[in-house]
Amino acid sequence: MDIPRTLDKQTIPKHVAIVMDGNGRWAKKRNLPRVAGHNAGMIALKEIVKASSVLGLKHLTVYAFSTENWKRPEEEVKGIFKLLIIYIEKELAELHKNNVKVNILGDYQQLPKEALTKLEKSLETTRDNTGLQFNIALNYGGRREILRAAQLLAKDFSEGKISEEQMTEEYFASKLYTKGIPDPDLVIRTSGEMRLSNYLLWQSAYSEFVYTNVLWPDFTPKDLETAIASFQHRKRRYGGV
Ligand code: FPP
Repeated sequence: MDIPRTLDKQTIPKHVAIVMDGNGRWAKKRNLPRVAGHNAGMIALKEIVKASSVLGLKHLTVYAFSTENWKRPEEEVKGIFKLLIIYIEKELAELHKNNVKVNILGDYQQLPKEALTKLEKSLETTRDNTGLQFNIALNYGGRREILRAAQLLAKDFSEGKISEEQMTEEYFASKLYTKGIPDPDLVIRTSGEMRLSNYLLWQSAYSEFVYTNVLWPDFTPKDLETAIASFQHRKRRYGGV
């Protein structure tokens, strides 16, 4: 696979963020348990990570588990973490070979022990890689992230490390999980839902949005290309004219 001719090589987005929605509906349509939908979603994700490297994205960020997802049935929550473990076991060598750097956004220390151990291993193994950075949002919530940043900022202030004047957008952003990561140029949400669902609230202030009716397990590299092509036709003005 190469960069398709339908895309302009010069304006490939640096950062694409995805809400991988529709796994449950995909399974329901087939009379399968919801976890089967997540399994199919994991398979789709593998291809999207590979395609993102080939297309030359610098960052791919996926919403794998939100701070609200704990409310799902225990069996489903356990199933998602089991899939995460399987994903890392199966894919870590390949990710590393492709120079992909794994990164986690969210309070991941609270994840089940085995998933945490695997995640830490994937972070350690790929730490010095310089290709695509694959950011997995896990136990992630945008409001929690902003609140946490505000607390860290308040701490720096009360310890006298910064003055009120030094509280800039840049300083605030350096307290987010996404420290050092450029804001997403493009946010994609699958399955026809048009919500942000507490995803990258601060970071998506000027992102372009693409919504598609395709359910996440059916989302292919071709759909990613279509979304990027749509992004390339937008005129970004950032509040200007
Ligand atoms: C949303 O679909 C999907 C999730 C909450 C989980 C995403 C998980 C994966 C893609 C697989 C696991 C892979 C890793 C790397 C963790 P939904 O269940 O809300 O679908 P619905 O809206 O149709 O019910």
